Amino acid sequence: MDKSQINEIISRNNIVDVISSYIPLKKSGNNYKARCPFHDEKTASFIVNESKQIFKCFGCGKGGNVVTFLMDYEKISFIEAMKRLARRVGMSVQVSPTSKYKNSKRDLIYKIYQLANAHFQENLKNHGGLAQRYLQQRQLSQQTIDEFQLGYALDSFGALRSYLLKNNINSKILGQTGLFGSGSNGFYDLFRQRLMFPIHSSSGNVIAFGGRVLDSEQPGGKYINSPTTDIYQKGTELYGLFKTKYEISKLDYVLVSEGYMDFLRLYENGFHNAVASLGTALTDQQIKLLSRFSQKIYILYDGDMAGRKAAIKAAGNVLKQGYEAKLIILPPEHDPDSFLKAYGKEKLEELIARAPTLIEFLHKDKSMEMSRKEKLEFLIEVLKKVEDDLSKELLAKEIAETFGISQATITSKARTRKRNNFSQQQEKPENLYSEERLLLKLLISEPKNIKNVAQTLKSDYFLSEKYRKIYELLIDKMFEIDNINVLIGEMEDEQIRNTLTDILLEEMPNTSIAEVTSSLKIRQLKKELQQINLELQNGDMNENLLKRKAEIKKEIIKFGKKIVTRILY
Ligand code: CTP
Ligand code: MN
Repeated sequence: MDKSQINEIISRNNIVDVISSYIPLKKSGNNYKARCPFHDEKTASFIVNESKQIFKCFGCGKGGNVVTFLMDYEKISFIEAMKRLARRVGMSVQVSPTSKYKNSKRDLIYKIYQLANAHFQENLKNHGGLAQRYLQQRQLSQQTIDEFQLGYALDSFGALRSYLLKNNINSKILGQTGLFGSGSNGFYDLFRQRLMFPIHSSSGNVIAFGGRVLDSEQPGGKYINSPTTDIYQKGTELYGLFKTKYEISKLDYVLVSEGYMDFLRLYENGFHNAVASLGTALTDQQIKLLSRFSQKIYILYDGDMAGRKAAIKAAGNVLKQGYEAKLIILPPEHDPDSFLKAYGKEKLEELIARAPTLIEFLHKDKSMEMSRKEKLEFLIEVLKKVEDDLSKELLAKEIAETFGISQATITSKARTRKRNNFSQQQEKPENLYSEERLLLKLLISEPKNIKNVAQTLKSDYFLSEKYRKIYELLIDKMFEIDNINVLIGEMEDEQIRNTLTDILLEEMPNTSIAEVTSSLKIRQLKKELQQINLELQNGDMNENLLKRKAEIKKEIIKFGKKIVTRILY
C-alpha cells in the first residue's frame, strides 16, 4: 500500500457517508452534527465537515479523518481501517511485508485470538468428550455452539502455546496476549480443561475468552476471563452483541442478562435482541455501547437478592445516562437460563410486556426490604447524576408522581453544583501559543511556503511542544502534503491528530506568514535579550554581550516594522 493508494481510498470514502452508517448525522449549516460516539453527552457537539472531510468533537476534543474515525470507533488498526474502507468502495489493497504499515502489535494480538479460537473449537470437536457431555447435559444445541464458536481448552500447560508457535507466532509476543502465564520454563497456557466462550467485539473480532470449569471439583474460579490487553478492556464489551446488534436496533429494546449461559439460552429461545454484561456491574461504557443500537434497556438478571440488587444498580446507571431502564424480575430461585428451561419463552414474553420501570418497581417492591425513605434516597442519588437537563426533569417528574410527592421537593434534594465544562479548561493553553498555531494554520493552507519558512525558523522557536511536533512533521513531509487529510490519518499521536483537525477547522486568519514568522522571531529575540540582561546584572561586563544586545535591539526594530498590530486574534 503506497501513498497514492491511501490517497485514493480516502478520497473515495466520503466521511459523511461513512460516519452516518454508524451514527445518525443531522445537517446543520455547513456541517453535520451528532451526539459524540466517543464520550457521553446529550447535546450534539460532534461535527462532520464534508468539504474538509474531517470530524471533530467540541466536547471531548477528539478529531480526525475518515480513517481515524474507523480506527477509534471499531478499535482497529490503521491497516485494518484502510482495508475496510477499500472494500467499501470495491477496491482491494495489497500490503507488502516490508510496508511500514505492516501488522501492528494490535493486529498480531487479534490474529492470535483468532488462532486460539480456532484451536479451542477444534479441540471441542476432536478431543472434547468431557466438554461435549457437559454441553449436552446443559442442553445447548449444536447450532448455538457453532454460532457462538464455543470451544474447549485441553487439560495441558502447552497445547495452545505449541499451536501458536506452529502457526508462526513469535513466542516473544505471548506474554502480552493474556492467554499465558510465565514460569521458570517459560510461558504456559492459562486456560486449561475449560469450556471456552470467545468474547467478540461488536464488530465481530475475538478479543477475549471466558473459560468455565466442567465440574465443581476443578481448581480455580467457576469462570476465568482474559485480562486487559491491547485489544480488550474489561467492562467495555458485551457478550453476544456482535450477533444481536441488528435485532436490538430493529426491535429498539435490548435484554441485558448477566451470564454466558443466560445469553445463549435467550438466543436459543428466539430472543435475538439480547446481550450479557459478564458479571453484575453494567458499566457506563457498556451502556454507551448499547445506546448506539437502542436506548431502551431491560435488565434481566438473576432473581435472587444479589441479582436484584445488581439489577437496580444497573438500571440506575442506565437512567443516569438519560436512557430508559426497565426491570424483568425473575422468581428468586431462577436465572434467565433456568427460567426459560422451566417455564418456556411465552412466560418470559409476558414478563417483558409487563416489565416495570426502575421507579415503578421500587415503588411497589417489598422483596428488597428497602424503606420508602431508602428507595427515594437511591433514586435521588441517581437523579443527581443525570447530566442532561431535560432527562433530569422528566425523571424528577416520574419519581414525584409515582411516589406522590411534589416535584419541587425532589428537584431541590437533587440539586448539585454545576460542574465546570472540561472543554473550557482545555482551551486555555491554546491561547498561550496562538501565534505558533497561527503559523501552522497558514502553512497547512499553503504548503508551498513550508520550505521557505523552514529555512529561517528553526523548530525551537516553538515553545509549545505540541505545535513544535506538528511543525517538525510539516517540514518532514513538506513534499508530500498535497492532501493534509491523508497526513491526519497517519498521525499516531492522538493529541496531535486532534489539534491538527482543530486547526483545519478554524477560519483563515487575516494575517500573513511573514508577519507571524517575524512575531515568533521577536519573541525569541526578546527572550535572548532578557537572558543577556540577567547576565549583565550579574556583573559580567562582557564586550560580546553588549555587542549582541545592540544587535538584538536592531533586529527587533527591523522585524517590528513588519508587524501589524492585530497579530493575536
Ligand atoms: N462470572 C465471572 N466469574 C465468576 C463468576 C461469574 O466472570 N467467577 C460472570 C460470568 O460471565 C457468568 C456471570 O458472571 O456467566 C454470571 O455469573 P453466575 O450467575 O454465577 O453464573 P451463570 O451464568 O449462572 O453460570 P452457569 O450457568 O455456567 O453456572
Ligand atoms: Mn446465573
